[in-house]
Amino acid sequence: MNNLSLFAFLCAISAHSIAVAATSAAYPSIPGADTGECSLRGDTVDGVLVPPRREVYDGGRIFDISHRYSPELPVWDSTEGLGEHFLWLEKGMKNGSRANNSAMKLGVHTGTHVDAPGHFFDNYYDAGFDVDSLDITLLNGLALLVDVPRDTNITAEVMKSLNIPRGVRRVLFRTLNTDRRLMFKKEFDTTYVGFKEDGAKWLVENTDIKLVGIDYLSVAAYDHSISSHVAFLESREIILVEGLKLDDVPAGIYTLNCLHLRLVHSEASPIRCILSR
Ligand SMILES: *[C@@H]1O[C@H](CO)[C@@H](O)[C@H](O)[C@H]1NC(C)=O
Ligand SMILES: *[C@@H]1O[C@H](CO)[C@@H](O)[C@H](O)[C@H]1NC(C)=O
Ligand SMILES: *[C@@H]1O[C@H](CO)[C@@H](O)[C@H](O)[C@H]1NC(C)=O
Repeated sequence: MNNLSLFAFLCAISAHSIAVAATSAAYPSIPGADTGECSLRGDTVDGVLVPPRREVYDGGRIFDISHRYSPELPVWDSTEGLGEHFLWLEKGMKNGSRANNSAMKLGVHTGTHVDAPGHFFDNYYDAGFDVDSLDITLLNGLALLVDVPRDTNITAEVMKSLNIPRGVRRVLFRTLNTDRRLMFKKEFDTTYVGFKEDGAKWLVENTDIKLVGIDYLSVAAYDHSISSHVAFLESREIILVEGLKLDDVPAGIYTLNCLHLRLVHSEASPIRCILSR
């Protein structure tokens, strides 16, 4: 069976199981699953099978706002980026293994990731406030994507000017970092935009925001790296999602879904986030 007919076969199988599932109350059918989405399995171009890689799904209903883990991904304070060696094939079919099995080694603050209170508070770290203790209901729900002024870091004045209404619990801040495509440049850039300490304190004291998202590796401006994180994490109520990919997503209100790994004793984790409407 060549690849093309194998894929057609797999499509037919899954369409069949969906049809069967639809008849069982215990397994309701998945909306959209039978609408020709078999192209999601990849296309064949000139006889070569090409995997699908998307940023946007379902005609603009779902935006993938996590970055790909690739060698070019920038890493904190490094000019080298993530590099080739974070992922390797431990057992390969080319070497006689029955399957391909890869392994990886990754800093937990690499790429799109979430910070837990233990990141800047040793007592919280010791007490177990790791990523496994994060409130998953905060990481999933209605969120506002806002554009901040491009000529400044996020100060108290900027926060005030954004007029984010009380009651808004999740905000993704799009900044100059997105315009500069900093997450696509492997050299770490200290001139990225983030929260100044007074901006972080203003948010904590004057809003109901409990999830703060940003478009570079830190929510805190480089020269306020510690003080802004401390302001956010001290209450153990605020979750920080860093390194988001907010390119080409219209500002507005979305459903945010973020899920990270349950890394016990870890103060951060890679996280997968999507926006949908
Ligand atoms: C496969 O074998 C080659 C040649 O011996 C070796 O360089 C490579 O690391 C092996 N790869 C795996 C995944 O075992
Ligand atoms: C992984 O498996 C596929 C077969 O499914 C094989 O064609 C490919 O060469 C393998 N990759 C490596 C790096 O061995
Ligand atoms: C933001 O702050 C950093 C220092 O932390 C600085 O290098 C950068 O120029 C500032 N960006 C703007 C737009 O003011």
